[in-house]
Amino acid sequence: MITPIFLLCILTRQALCQTKDISPAKIFAPLKTISEGSSLYITCSTFGSKKQSTVYVYLCKDGVGIDTAMQKKEQNDAHFAIRQVSRHDSGHYSCIYSRTKYKPSALNDTGSSRIQIQVIPSFLPADISVAGPSTVSEGNHVELRCTLSKTVQTLGECQLVQSYLTRNDTVVQVQRFNITQMEATFIIEGAVVKDSGSYSCIVLPLKCFEMNKGALYGNNSILVEVKASLVGQVMFYSGIISLMLSLGFCLWMIRHRCGSSKGK
Ligand SMILES: *[C@@H]1O[C@H](CO)[C@@H](O)[C@H](O)[C@H]1NC(C)=O
Ligand SMILES: *[C@@H]1O[C@H](CO)[C@@H](O)[C@H](O)[C@H]1NC(C)=O
Ligand SMILES: *[C@@H]1O[C@H](CO)[C@@H](O)[C@H](O)[C@H]1NC(C)=O
Ligand SMILES: *[C@@H]1O[C@H](CO)[C@@H](O)[C@H](O)[C@H]1NC(C)=O
Repeated sequence: MITPIFLLCILTRQALCQTKDISPAKIFAPLKTISEGSSLYITCSTFGSKKQSTVYVYLCKDGVGIDTAMQKKEQNDAHFAIRQVSRHDSGHYSCIYSRTKYKPSALNDTGSSRIQIQVIPSFLPADISVAGPSTVSEGNHVELRCTLSKTVQTLGECQLVQSYLTRNDTVVQVQRFNITQMEATFIIEGAVVKDSGSYSCIVLPLKCFEMNKGALYGNNSILVEVKASLVGQVMFYSGIISLMLSLGFCLWMIRHRCGSSKGK
């Protein structure tokens, strides 16, 4: 009889000691899908809770506290910003608050509602494969296929993003990467010896390949004229020169004749 009571006592004591005065707070984020390098803004709100004093608001990522802000009794919102986000900042975020000040990392939030934040990476290393043999004779074409095994999130539901083909770490081709198909195809037409090298592929989920052709044009345009060959130019200029010479000669003849007739 004593043993169960004793056990219960221990469990209760443990439970009491572990209990921290933590309450859930509401969480708001203006943007849930953001690009790598931008800033993540999150607001934790204690609106509606009857707090009697100053509290500490904690921002949690995947259930563990990462930041804290002090909030006065009359305040409702605590603002958090994570600058220059990386892909590792993707996750489930939530807010909690407490009258006690804790080290954020010592807090585990298992209860309150969470929002999912997705950081779109600026580049993704993709898989490359060659359709056909990887050793070809000069003049043949080589088809390289670039694929991703995990689905890609893009900005504004962009369907075609850019992908780069690199040879010995230098970009050699840009191609459309289809988000539905999860692949891009690069073709090297009429391969030459200098096409040999180590190829790889990178997908840029933030760089949307616009569907309307307008986006493929630059801001302005210039007219480039290819001049005729040198022979043509010489003929053109010599034509002008001979025309001028004949005109000059003609004028000289007229004058000369007039002069000679006057002289007579
Ligand atoms: C919080 O959870 C993590 C894993 O989810 C665990 O390693 C850590 O010990 C927990 N911390 C506390 C204070 O409970
Ligand atoms: C992407 O691939 C899918 C499946 O093959 C195709 O239906 C779709 O038209 C392609 N999208 C573009 C923009 O080419
Ligand atoms: C790329 O590197 C390989 C060796 O790693 C070399 O054989 C090849 O010539 C290089 N290609 C170019 C275009 O530099
Ligand atoms: C496009 O060109 C106009 C002038 O032709 C210039 O004022 C404008 O800044 C340019 N826009 C960009 C994005 O370069």
